[in-house]
Amino acid sequence: MKIDVLLGLQWGDEGKGKIVDVLAPKYDIVTRFQGGPNAGHTLEFSGKKFVLHTIPSGIFTDGAINIIGNGVVLDPKIFKDEIEVINAQNPELKNCLKIAKRANLILPTHRILDAANEAAKGKSKIGSTLKGIGPTYTDKISRNGLRIGDILLPNFKEKFDALTQRHLREIASLGFTDFSLEEFTKGWFEGIECLKQFEFIDSEMYVNEKLQENKSVLAEGAQGTMLDIDFGTYPFVTSSNTICAGACTGMGVAPQKIGEVFGIFKAYCTRVGAGPYPTELFDETGDKLCQLGHEFGATTGRRRRTGWLDLVQLKYSCMINGVTQLICTKGDVLNDFDTIKACVKYTINGKETMSMPFDASEEAKPIYKEFKGWKCDISNCKKESDLPKELMDYIKFIEEFVGVPVKMISVGPDREATIMR
Ligand code: GDP
Ligand code: IMO
Ligand code: MG
Repeated sequence: MKIDVLLGLQWGDEGKGKIVDVLAPKYDIVTRFQGGPNAGHTLEFSGKKFVLHTIPSGIFTDGAINIIGNGVVLDPKIFKDEIEVINAQNPELKNCLKIAKRANLILPTHRILDAANEAAKGKSKIGSTLKGIGPTYTDKISRNGLRIGDILLPNFKEKFDALTQRHLREIASLGFTDFSLEEFTKGWFEGIECLKQFEFIDSEMYVNEKLQENKSVLAEGAQGTMLDIDFGTYPFVTSSNTICAGACTGMGVAPQKIGEVFGIFKAYCTRVGAGPYPTELFDETGDKLCQLGHEFGATTGRRRRTGWLDLVQLKYSCMINGVTQLICTKGDVLNDFDTIKACVKYTINGKETMSMPFDASEEAKPIYKEFKGWKCDISNCKKESDLPKELMDYIKFIEEFVGVPVKMISVGPDREATIMR
């Protein structure tokens, strides 16, 4: 069998959690492969709502094995908090969640370093979630990190202390004093104890063996393509490869093992944190999108910036990821708009272009195509033939522009509000 990958094509929060939850019953295994608790993946079913940060969104699916892959960075305290909420729903949790030994640990001082780095950047700060993501991946790449497997070593505490001391020197050199190490450390070691209840695995061996046994695997991306460390709007990005290739390194699977690539996008666009965003709206339309779409971050509660769909950006994301199927979410948020716009070209320095700007300071002005709004409630639609013509015209234009079919349309946050084509 091959491994299918689901990932965000914009700046995150496209609805990955919801769609993974919808797709999970078709899979034996669901795995996260990058990112950490900067992610907030929302699932809604049976009148209940859950926000997952580290644990894969297949956790509520009976019989599915969930894996936190080697490419993930894990904060034990946040992990424990999540486990406590899920435990009440899924008493079998211990048997259906496994953690890669090679995943890196987020230390309390990584979070403080994140805050210190942001403070040092002043006005040009990234708008990080301050979960310690950047500093943890920095330690991974500079070969200083602590990994899940280290927890079982006799000298784990010594390693922890040495890295903490190193971080404290770095924090002092940045002149950052506004923190309480106790606050962050409180609960961290309890989190370590909580982690020990779970099986630590060589996830690359596990996943490849399962593929050999014809088991099906769904890989759940976090963040979105425009937050990718290489291809996003650098430096306003996260510190991992959020793209499809990240699934290979984040799980230890070869490129030819990748099957379907599900690319998920909102029918409009949002971004949280700083950085370029060509189609951002600063007017009442933007406020209306925010209000109707409840666009507040699932992890930090920050107001998300809102704007129209950017097809230049979407096409770029499809190319980078080799998307084979598109999934459109939140079309229902556009129910009440007379006109809907989508960006089909940019003007950069007076020249029209279909290229993404290299530098974050280059201003890409959007050129829009307008579409007639459908002006009706689609949230109760159950099948494609229930959907209004205007919405289908919009979807067909997107498919043609990008060159990839839209196979699913989500019309509400609930598991059930999903239309397959
Ligand atoms: P993720 O990070 O990609 O998993 O997305 P988030 O959970 O951060 O944000 C998506 C938000 O939109 C969540 O509150 C979801 O419950 C909600 N959502 C997902 N799909 C739809 C949809 O089709 N319509 C509406 N109205 N809300 C949706
Ligand atoms: P999900 O998986 C939206 C953004 C932050 C910030 C930048 C860097 O829920 O889609 P970091 O904490 O990684 O140092 O932040 O990336 N960001 C996200 N935005 N959704 C996410 O995850 C995000 N994870 C990080 O707001 O701009
Ligand atoms: Mg999110």
